[in-house]
Amino acid sequence: MQTLSPSSRAQHGQHYTPADLADHLWLQTRVALGWNSEDHRLPGLLRDPAAGSGALLLPPLREHLRAAASDDAALTLAALPQMIEGIDQDGYAAWVGSVILAAEMLPTLARVPAKNRRPLPALVRQGDGLDPKLSPAAIAIMNPPYGRVSLDASSREQYAHVIYGHANIYGLFMAEGARNLTIDGVLSALVPTSFAAGLYQHRLRGYLSEQAPLRSVTFVQDRSGSFTGVLQETCMAVFQRRRHRKATVARVNIRIESVASIVPPHGAGPWLIPRDPADATIAAAAAQLPLSLSAAGYHASTGPLVWNRRRDDIYARPGKARRVILWGADIDGGEVRRDISRNAQRYLAIRDDRDAAVMTLTEPAVLVQRTTAPEQTRRLVPAELTPEKLQELGGSVVIENHVNVLRPTMLVPLLSRATVARVLATRTLDRVMRCLSGTVAVSSYELAALPLPAAEVLASWEGLVGEELELAVAKAYRLS
Ligand SMILES: C[S@@+](CC[C@H](N)C(=O)[O-])C[C@H]1O[C@@H](n2cnc3c(N)ncnc32)[C@H](O)[C@@H]1O
Repeated sequence: MQTLSPSSRAQHGQHYTPADLADHLWLQTRVALGWNSEDHRLPGLLRDPAAGSGALLLPPLREHLRAAASDDAALTLAALPQMIEGIDQDGYAAWVGSVILAAEMLPTLARVPAKNRRPLPALVRQGDGLDPKLSPAAIAIMNPPYGRVSLDASSREQYAHVIYGHANIYGLFMAEGARNLTIDGVLSALVPTSFAAGLYQHRLRGYLSEQAPLRSVTFVQDRSGSFTGVLQETCMAVFQRRRHRKATVARVNIRIESVASIVPPHGAGPWLIPRDPADATIAAAAAQLPLSLSAAGYHASTGPLVWNRRRDDIYARPGKARRVILWGADIDGGEVRRDISRNAQRYLAIRDDRDAAVMTLTEPAVLVQRTTAPEQTRRLVPAELTPEKLQELGGSVVIENHVNVLRPTMLVPLLSRATVARVLATRTLDRVMRCLSGTVAVSSYELAALPLPAAEVLASWEGLVGEELELAVAKAYRLS
């Protein structure tokens, strides 16, 4: 099944889980259940609502059968459908899954006297894993399909508590899995890490942290996509319907490495989770800070120009009603420059007043690149668009879509523009950003949410530069 063609995998969301990740997800689930190293029987129903060919069901089935090795074999087999349930919309995958799981039952069947043998149970069935009428599960384990879905009015209403804007189907599976757990139940999911940060999943975060707080997360650092078949950052996250004080963080590349023990993230805001052991302190300190960039007086937005929608209005030379376009590459070394690679697309012809109102920036601001290349050492690449620079560029500029714009929301924000630009350029803030998102994208939502210390600490940063500023900022995030 892992040999499905890439196009078929992508089209149907059929990225089947490799055995080592399935084993690890089961291991994390066992830890949440408080199990020791001995084999345990399942405590109640374990369900994979998007089971494919049953990869995630194999490790728990094996353990359950080993634990029941001295029980009545016929009874053990007969009870399996109450213990393990796989569902998949693809009837063929369900059939293959049932055969694979049945093969695991053969040693148990061999213990049943020949005359008492019954057909082995089919544990994966064709169906809808999001069916709200499914009975509660003690354990929901899943590698759900990913991708945007358009929902009809009644489904939108059903999921209104967890969706915002576009719905991503993996979020619906997580929400439904968390809702439909028995008391103390555990939800274990191999999912993109986007649920832990961006704006679109903020309701899901709020719901999960109330319903079933995070118990553990292991980041899958597989940039090639060969483990998971998907290029976005992926993780194995375990949630439990019980209050607990600690959540563990680990990462797996070729081997598993412990990263940190954290207070379970709470609420709808972006969750701060370190990806690197060196960032454990910073994430813990940042989570305690009272302010954010938006509370300090800055609004973050995305540059409005999507260049390929305005191809015909873009010019290399200045002209009547043309405004300078600023691109990501123009933010360089803490300053706004004109990168020669962008000079062929330097001006946008403004059509009318409405176009000018939407497209042009006429006040000084702080600009921050929205995406950085994976090999780039920094995630945060900022520069101040000073009043002088803005005048030099004509007093009005157009910001391209790969640039974030930070504008003051109050007459005197808690940090000046120049200081915001310098603080974002520190090594410490770059590390904080990496705890908010493991991807190369820096969204305006995450920028606005960057945690900052109290007003008097911010005031003490004004005027500091270079290593002096680095030290002062590091101290506020408890880095020595
Ligand atoms: C990413 S695959 C994972 C399969 C399996 N759990 C594994 O880990 O190998 C997701 C599966 O979800 C199934 N699927 C998509 N939508 C579904 C739905 N509404 N109900 C049940 N299964 C669904 C797809 O057919 C696919 O097999």
